[in-house]
Amino acid sequence: MRKPIIAGNWKMNKLVAEGARFVVDIREKVPSGDEVDTVVCAPFVHLPFLTEAAREYHVQIGAQNMHYEESGAFTGEVSPQMLEDLLVDYVIIGHSERRQYYNETDETVNKKTLAAFENNLNPIVCVGETLEQRDNNETMSFVEGQVRQALDGLTEEQAKQVVIAYEPIWAIGTGRTATSEQANEVCAHIRKVVKDQFGEDVSEAVRIQYGGSVKPANIEELLGMSDIDGALVGGASLKEEDFLKLVEAGQ
Ligand code: G3P
Repeated sequence: MRKPIIAGNWKMNKLVAEGARFVVDIREKVPSGDEVDTVVCAPFVHLPFLTEAAREYHVQIGAQNMHYEESGAFTGEVSPQMLEDLLVDYVIIGHSERRQYYNETDETVNKKTLAAFENNLNPIVCVGETLEQRDNNETMSFVEGQVRQALDGLTEEQAKQVVIAYEPIWAIGTGRTATSEQANEVCAHIRKVVKDQFGEDVSEAVRIQYGGSVKPANIEELLGMSDIDGALVGGASLKEEDFLKLVEAGQ
């Protein structure tokens, strides 16, 4: 049995005091980490306070991006070491918004995934097709290419630990969720790709999330599907009440 993982991605939202209040308010209400992994992925400026506030509770804290180099002349960037130093647990890698607006490529996604493991961070690697690719029947081959490149060079142990988030771009922030069958079909294909790359032990262990307009009203159905092990949630993760409902559904 794979443990569900519900991760909120706040994107570029919330001031530091609001973020702090959010985690302080939910931290005692979040179920034990034996049942479900609960992750809040916040902008960098929130991380020092949030990792402190979440310590000793069942909320884990994630970043939304990082560089793959340890240090150096990369103005404006944050290194994996810096995140590890703050005791950050997770890092989102290759979100479609970063691929679209900041030239993230499959190659940098791979470098960042490897760097995450070198620095004790759990990567949440995002993949997903555009509407045009879906309409042209390219979804499976495109997502397969993204997964293969992202995971290239990982050990079996690392590949078991990676979290893959399938987020069809056309379903992000649009209110248009993939049907649970559409989402599961691609997640099952991703698991097959991982099986081909690393073997069955790894593919049975790896957790695959769905992301794209997930909300309390549709999460149960999504989590009920055979190959969906959790959700990466944008909009609905910004309200404490909704986020707690999502986490509850993961129990
Ligand atoms: O990473 C989460 C995401 O891109 C989905 O956003 O707002 O559609 O839940 P949203």
